[in-house]
Amino acid sequence: MKGVVLAGGTGSRLYPLTRVTNKHLLPVGRYPMIYHPLLRLRRAGVTEIGLVTSPEHMGDVVNLLGSGSRLGVDLTYRVQDEPGGIAQALGLCESFVGKEPFVVVLGDNILGEDIRDDVEAFAKQARDSSGARVLLKEVHDPERYGVPEFDGDRISRVIEKPANPPSSYSVIGIYFYDPSVFDYIRTLTPSQRGELEISDVSNRYAEKGQLTHGVLSSWWGDAGTFEGLEEANRLARDLVYEELPGVANE
Ligand code: G1P
Repeated sequence: MKGVVLAGGTGSRLYPLTRVTNKHLLPVGRYPMIYHPLLRLRRAGVTEIGLVTSPEHMGDVVNLLGSGSRLGVDLTYRVQDEPGGIAQALGLCESFVGKEPFVVVLGDNILGEDIRDDVEAFAKQARDSSGARVLLKEVHDPERYGVPEFDGDRISRVIEKPANPPSSYSVIGIYFYDPSVFDYIRTLTPSQRGELEISDVSNRYAEKGQLTHGVLSSWWGDAGTFEGLEEANRLARDLVYEELPGVANE
């Protein structure tokens, strides 16, 4: 399975930390933030990865990661010319992804566990039928995230940053889609914050009863805000990817 890591955006919620550098290059634990999604994918056996970032920061990202070989991955880069949302960034990966099911990870999502079981679960789902899969985590502040509404044990829709969350779960930034996602993205219109929302993409599948989910058992952090970055640093403080000998000491 191929993977996509989305690392665009202005990082405006972290100004001035992100005025001259990309949010995804800020430190989380012993590593630049972007290492975490890349290494979780690699550990799940996903090594062919498309990485989207903004023109301002592409140079720094390539300086850090190069071809990806030091991290054991094979990177293909795409430039998001203007910040137009996560779903817009994903749309840039159509030719990279091709006609196969794939996994998307947001570059600011930090996980305390591997996702191999979920990659395998979605590979099986994709063999049997089409559809999508999201991962959930129970949180104390769901209004900060995309929140699932349930009909029985199935997600009936995902609401982006709801004032009155219908459940106490967050849809975390790991998504599995079949290739029809690119047709769905073409039908989206910008949300109130002027972005093409990834929750609207997932809702296309939910409407058809094709959105499955898993629940994360370990910790999870979205490092896109000051609170989130601080929390992610606390959670990832002792996290070491042993497959990268010496990297933490570089
Ligand atoms: C994005 C998604 C949101 C999701 C979150 C997970 O939010 O829009 O649905 O729950 O990532 O990290 P953002 O961080 O762009 O506000």
